[in-house]
Amino acid sequence: MAEDLTVIRSTDKKEQYKSLLPQIEGLLEGETDLVANLANICAALKEQFGWFWVGFYLVKDGQLILGPFQGPVACTRIAKGKGVCGAAWEQEKTLVVPDVDAFPGHIACSSLSRSEIVLPLFHNDAVVGVLDVDSEHLSHFDEIDALYLEQIVKLIRF
Ligand code: SME
Repeated sequence: MAEDLTVIRSTDKKEQYKSLLPQIEGLLEGETDLVANLANICAALKEQFGWFWVGFYLVKDGQLILGPFQGPVACTRIAKGKGVCGAAWEQEKTLVVPDVDAFPGHIACSSLSRSEIVLPLFHNDAVVGVLDVDSEHLSHFDEIDALYLEQIVKLIRF
């Protein structure tokens, strides 16, 4: 695997994702351990984008349980259908939330989080976890983030 990450200074997020995608592919290459790979994906995303919180929740025993992440401590368990993460799991689709206060049932792990994007992770057509990204800014995420983050999570081998 590549052992370091080149962070680019561009403010164009497409450029940032395009630089990151092959590097994440390189990080995952040859490593089969899921936790190691999820941890490096979080670190790479955090380094490039500096987001407030980025991390994974994994489905275990019928609920989402906190996995590798970067950022402040977070709630550890989320039920199906609860919060943005539980909703993305239940609806099996990416949810972009421009204002978390306007999302019914949003789980505030931190009062500093203002907007959020959550993507389900699929294995054998079932949701096995989610990628959750939080920002301290309103309307921080859009369809560009959804498009590229979907490509990143497709690289994960379960
Ligand atoms: N806000 C999320 C909970 C996870 S934390 O943001 C890290 C939600 O509503 O599901």
